[in-house]
Amino acid sequence: MNPDPHIESCSRDPEAVAAFFNGWSLYRRIVDNDYLYHRSVKASLGEWLNGLEQELGRPFSFLDLGCGDGLFSSEILEGRSLSGYTGMDISPVALDLAEQNTRQIKAPCTLKIGDFLTEITSLPDTYDIIYIGLSLHHLPRTEKEFFFGELRLKLSPCGALVIFDPVLTPGETHDSYMGRWVDHAEWAWNALTAEEVAGAIQHVTSSDYPEEIGTLNRLAALSGFDPAEVLFMDQTDFYALMVFRTIEHSS
Ligand SMILES: C[S@@+](CC[C@H](N)C(=O)[O-])C[C@H]1O[C@@H](n2cnc3c(N)ncnc32)[C@H](O)[C@@H]1O
Repeated sequence: MNPDPHIESCSRDPEAVAAFFNGWSLYRRIVDNDYLYHRSVKASLGEWLNGLEQELGRPFSFLDLGCGDGLFSSEILEGRSLSGYTGMDISPVALDLAEQNTRQIKAPCTLKIGDFLTEITSLPDTYDIIYIGLSLHHLPRTEKEFFFGELRLKLSPCGALVIFDPVLTPGETHDSYMGRWVDHAEWAWNALTAEEVAGAIQHVTSSDYPEEIGTLNRLAALSGFDPAEVLFMDQTDFYALMVFRTIEHSS
């Protein structure tokens, strides 16, 4: 496991994360310009969901942790055989938007405000799909390890944990990832003002703790998950879409 001293010593600040996402319009513009590769992730996840629907042969339930404004998931789930949608987010502003965006989902919807690390236990059900889009990396490593255990408890026996997150390349340090990420954002995010790019950089460099895929695999294995199937990795090697199934499922 990468012994990066920065990653070992970091601690999270959920209030700072919520404050950044309460200014939702900047994040919306970042997504609308596809700077975080949502279009490719949507295509890969959509194709994978087609296979899962066939495998299950019945409507599936979907838990969306760090759901944000719910738009990405509402679009992904459109026309699918869904038994229920649950979204959880720490930002009240994002959840207000999710309230409107999830109206198009044709299944019972529940939205919950809260820190998913502590509030996941308050959810009464297990879920066929647990999706965490661009938010697991806000947890330091020890909390990620704990969280995989909680996620395992909330996953139905034939379920899948789907994680879209920034990832370090093998052997990369936190500082070197942040260095190349900042260079890329300053060079490529031309639709934003310099001030907006600076705001995004401040958030990412102070609140994000990406891991190597190998590290996530090792943390997940401690809670009974198989190594991830990587469905998508962007061409700049910043983000990966990963599916974790349980050891019971594959045996
Ligand atoms: C980058 S946005 C991603 C939104 C959406 N999932 C997507 O892929 O576009 C991250 C979201 O996770 C939420 N978030 C971050 N940490 C969280 C936590 N500990 N508990 C609940 N929500 C959290 C933020 O408020 C924000 O809405």
